[in-house]
Amino acid sequence: MNLRRAEKDDVSLVAQRWSNSQYMGEYQDVMKLSKAKMEKVMLEQTIFFIIEKKDGTKIGHIGGWMYGKICMEIGFALVLGERGKGYGTEAIQMMVNYLFPEKDIVRIQAPTDTENTPCQKALEKAGFTNEGTMRKSHCVRGEYRDMSLYSFLRDEWEILAETTASGKQHY
Ligand SMILES: CC(C)(COP(=O)(O)OP(=O)(O)OC[C@H]1O[C@@H](n2cnc3c(N)ncnc32)[C@H](O)[C@@H]1OP(=O)(O)O)[C@@H](O)C(=O)NCCC(=O)NCCS
Repeated sequence: MNLRRAEKDDVSLVAQRWSNSQYMGEYQDVMKLSKAKMEKVMLEQTIFFIIEKKDGTKIGHIGGWMYGKICMEIGFALVLGERGKGYGTEAIQMMVNYLFPEKDIVRIQAPTDTENTPCQKALEKAGFTNEGTMRKSHCVRGEYRDMSLYSFLRDEWEILAETTASGKQHY
C-alpha cells in the first residue's frame, strides 16, 4: 500500500466517507462538513493522505495537524472490508516516517477511545506509547467517553530508525 497526498478530486469521496458511520467506526461521530470546509481541511489545514492499495484502490485516509508548536496529532480510518489486514499499522508507520523528517516537531500524538482496541494495537505496533487516560474527553452519539493518549517522540523514532529495517525507508 501507499500514502498519496490528497488532491481536490479526493474531497467528495472523503466527505462522503466522513459522513458514514460505518467508515468512522464505533468510536467516532460522523462529520458532515461543507465541500468548501472539507477542501480547506484536506488541502490547507492538514497534511492529508489517501491510503491506497498497490492497484490504486482508495481504502482510507490518514491526516496530521499541528497541536501547539512542537507536536502533531494524527487521525485515520480504513473502509470496513480492509480492516484487520495490517494496513492501519503500516499507514501509521509511513505517516510517522514522513512527518518527523518533514516537520520541526518533537512529538506525534494520537488520542483514541479507551475501548478502540484495533486502533490502540495498531498504534502500539507502529511504536506509539500509551501515556494515560483523558477522562470524558470526547463525545460519541451523545455519550461522554474516555480517551487513551498515545505518543511517539522524535528521540524514540531516531533510535528505531537506526536499529530496524522498518525505519526511515517506510516512506
Ligand atoms: C483503527 C484502524 C485504522 C486500525 O487499522 P487496521 O488495519 O484495522 O489494524 P491492523 O490490521 O494494522 O491491526 C492492528 C492490530 O489490531 C488488531 N485488531 C484489528 N481489528 C481488531 C478487532 N476488531 N478487535 C481486536 N483486535 C483487532 C490486529 O489483530 C492487530 O493486532 P495483532 O497484530 O496483535 O494481531 C481501523 O480498524 C479502522 O479504520 N477503524 C475505524 C476507524 C477508527 O477507529 N479510526 C481510529 C480513530 S482514533
